[in-house]
Amino acid sequence: SLAIVRTVSDLRRAVAEYRAAGRTIGMVPTMGALHEGHVSLVKGALDRGDVPVASIFVNPTQFGPNEDFSAYPRGEADDFAKLEAAHCRIVFAPSVEEMYPGPQLTTVTVGGSITEGLCGPFRPGHFQGVATVVCKLLMMATPDRGYFGEKDYQQLQVLKRMARDLNLPVEIVGMPTIREPDGLAMSSRNRYLSAEERQRALAMYRALVTAANAVRDGRTACATAEAEATQSLLKAGFDKVEYFSVVDANTLAPLAKVTGPARIAAAARLGRTRLIDNIAV
Ligand code: PAJ
Repeated sequence: SLAIVRTVSDLRRAVAEYRAAGRTIGMVPTMGALHEGHVSLVKGALDRGDVPVASIFVNPTQFGPNEDFSAYPRGEADDFAKLEAAHCRIVFAPSVEEMYPGPQLTTVTVGGSITEGLCGPFRPGHFQGVATVVCKLLMMATPDRGYFGEKDYQQLQVLKRMARDLNLPVEIVGMPTIREPDGLAMSSRNRYLSAEERQRALAMYRALVTAANAVRDGRTACATAEAEATQSLLKAGFDKVEYFSVVDANTLAPLAKVTGPARIAAAARLGRTRLIDNIAV
């Protein structure tokens, strides 16, 4: 059954019991408001034979001053039930004071092209907040593997690079994006959408699929496909397209033409909701 722990020392004790029994540990960091996407990460850990350890922590340091930290959906009881049903073994649900007992004077910054583009300029400090909290969580639980979704593709690349650059003894495993039957990527923020917005939101996935087909094998210039996709999103009722960008799949540097592994990533606003999604080319 699921052990609920709230302190770092209880987390370490609970993990040590499984380690003593010869088990490997798979960590699934989350901010709660769990859905099938999060559950798929727990399944990924189970499939690799790891004991799944989830964390639920709405990390204040990765939200900007005008972002939705206070409004972010919280529902512990539901989340615990979903984790238990998914055969998760430990959930770490710390308070802000437990995670940040004093000012966090030590931070993790991943520089270079991975953080320069896409969400980087629109969310200053965001990836530093993410890298720092994930580094802390990994040091607290010391898992063999950490499971993260491709839904947040730039975040995944940031965390892979952090683990490599800091020699963290953990493998960062990327897992495919789980979508609604109509293609909309599952997200805790989908709860903000009205019924009408939920219909319009679908245009994001459609535009990504269309653009991926257009730029494949260098058929269409990336700039052309990006401009058409941006227009189609605005026409579908998105209020603002922050970016719609074809990038190198590993460095996230912008591409003019697709000649190797590429990814298309987009962020756009629909009413008060900011949606992101991405797709492999
Ligand atoms: P959160 O948005 O709760 O996401 C937790 C994990 O679930 C992330 O790895 C995310 O990529 C993955 N995920 C979300 N939606 C998904 C979907 N539709 N399919 C597959 N995976 C999905 O990302 C965060 O929290 C935070 O930044 C965190 C890493 C926990 C650090 O605070």
